Formats: sequence, C-alpha cells, structure tokens
Amino acid sequence: MIEPLRKLESYEEYLKIKSVYWDVDKEEFVWLDTRLLPFEEVYRRTRDYNRVAKAIKTLEIRGAPAIGVSAAYGMALAARYSQAKTVEDLLKDLETAYNILKNTRPTAFNLFWALDRVMKKARETANSSTDPDKVRESVLTEAATIHLEDVESNIQIGRHGAKLIDNGDIILTHCNTGALATSGFGTALGIIRYAWYEGKKIKVITTETRPVLQGARLNVWELKKEGIPFTLITDGMPGIVFRNNMADMAIVGADRIILTGHTANKIGTYMVALAAHDNDKPFYVAAPTSTIQETWNPDDIVIEIRDPEEVRTILGRYRLTLEDVDVYNPSFDITPPRYITAIITEKGIAYQPFGKTIPKLLKR
Ligand code: MRU
Repeated sequence: MIEPLRKLESYEEYLKIKSVYWDVDKEEFVWLDTRLLPFEEVYRRTRDYNRVAKAIKTLEIRGAPAIGVSAAYGMALAARYSQAKTVEDLLKDLETAYNILKNTRPTAFNLFWALDRVMKKARETANSSTDPDKVRESVLTEAATIHLEDVESNIQIGRHGAKLIDNGDIILTHCNTGALATSGFGTALGIIRYAWYEGKKIKVITTETRPVLQGARLNVWELKKEGIPFTLITDGMPGIVFRNNMADMAIVGADRIILTGHTANKIGTYMVALAAHDNDKPFYVAAPTSTIQETWNPDDIVIEIRDPEEVRTILGRYRLTLEDVDVYNPSFDITPPRYITAIITEKGIAYQPFGKTIPKLLKR
C-alpha cells in the first residue's frame, strides 16, 4: 500500500465517519451519498472520473475540502483506467479529466488547488520518466497525500479552535462543515468535535441551511452520531438567538478565503456574521489553508448560482411555490473581514488585520 494511505489508517480514531476514500483492493473511489442523509446511508463507488464529477455537481459529495480530495481521486481514476501507452497520451487523458472535474463547482477553492497540485505532479513525473505507470503511481500518491493532509489539517484546526471554546459554551454554526464536508473530521464542526472529545460540555445551535438543508440533514446526522446536544433553527433565527444571549459564538467554514480575509461560505453566512457582530459575539471562520486564494481582490471570488428548483421546492420533493416563480439562488455569500473575529487554520489562528496575518500564516 502506498505510504499516505497506510498513514491514514493511524487516524482511525478521528475518522468514525468515512465520507470519501480510495478502495485499495478494488482500485475504486468510494463516497457516502450526502443527498440521502439523514434517512439513508448509501455508499457509492466508481472507476470513472466522470461519475466523480457528476457526484460533485449534484452534491452527493459537497463541502470544499471533500470536493478537493474527491477531484484528486478522480484524477487518480483517470490515470489508473486510461488506456494510454505513452506518458504523452496519459497526460492528454489527464488534462481531459482535469477540465471536466474543474467545471463542477466554481466557488470551492480547494477544487482548483487539488487539481492543480495533481496535474503538476503528473507533469513533473512525466518529465523524468517515459514509463506511464510511474505517472499513474505518482498521481494516486499525490491524491492520497492530499487526503492525508486534509485529515491532518482538520485535526490541527480542531486543536487550535477548541482553545477558543470554554466549558458550557453554546456554538451556533451554519451549513455542514463536519466529516461529511471534508475527508473525515471537519473544520468548524471539527472544532466542535474536538472540544467535545476534550470533555467540554458544549451545545450546538445549527441552522437548517436552506435551500438544500445541509444543517437540518447533515449536521443533525453527525451531531446525533457523536451525541453532542444540539438545537435546530431556521436560517432566519440567528438574530434572535444572539439577541437573547442563547449562543456564545458562531463558527462557520469557508469555500474560499482571500488575503484580505473576505470569506465566501454557504449562503446565509454573512447574515450570521452580522447578527453575531451586532450582539458582540465572536464570529470565527475555520478552514484549511488550501481554501485560501492568494488574491487581494474580492471580485476574484466566483459565486456559484444554482438551479432555481432548489428554492422552489424542498429537495426537489415538495413544491413550495408556483413552478414559474422567478428565483435568485446564489449558493454562497461573502462575509467582509470586519465582521470576522478570527480565522482558524491548521497553521494557527489569524486575527485582524487579516491583510497582515494571513500572508504571515501562509509562510509558516
Ligand atoms: O454547497 P456546499 O454544501 O458544498 O457548501 C458547503 C459550505 O458552504 C461549507 O461551509 C464549506 O464548504 C466548508 S466545508 C468544511
């Protein structure tokens, strides 16, 4: 077995929920279909990178780090099952897979970061070897390394972030940032998990996270599994929750953070930040540094606009309104840095002014 996959086994105690992984024996990529949770736990598997792209697009796999790791394994499938006999032909097949995987979701920065990293590794190997199998092996090793690093980053984020949580705290979170959004532990929810493992008696308030209910479905499923007490609220309720002193802080994840600290995360995050700020409660963002795009321009953040049917219906099952209603369905919003108390990464915690502290953190 390749080294990063062997090393991943040593993190078993943190990986109670396996969201995405490489099946070493069958040489297949496997994932838990998050669309069906919390009602059904169905694992799916494939040897086809196009199927991985479809799973990302349709939110069977979602959450920025999980998307990045899965796309990297998609490249590993493309390499493993390509019929190419030369490194040149293999690189062409990998470029095709790269472009298909890249066009799945536009906001999650981890997607582009992971794909670029795997493609770079493939090119480097091709420059020093004429054996396509060497390139195949290097691609799988890089994907597994990205997977391993994601798990290690999550644990470090948990360790740093848990220091900000006191015994008895109540934490409000938005969208799912746990095992299901990463490769097995979580970022914002990983911090909550870590604090719980430390024995802190905490409680969680989770928004339902319209339109596809990552909070009501996925946080509920994960928090119940851990036995962490929680209360579910709708997305319009964080204001009264903070006003009534019912939560001590908010911790959320990120799909993309830039050097200024502007943070793109699930639609509604900005409103949570405003409610926390107006009631003097800390608002924390948790993410691995692979989520950080090295730009100073918030206009570089691409916001995904999704199918109007997600808003007109509940999960495509129950129609909420008339079929032809005009809908605006941005999947993410951008929280300005002035409302963010700190950004928690695997390399440590960045406080304001982020324009100085984030670049410093990236150099560590
Ligand atoms: O549309 P989704 O479910 O992929 O959105 C996910 C989020 O907004 C998460 O908060 C973010 O990706 C961080 S996951 C650790």
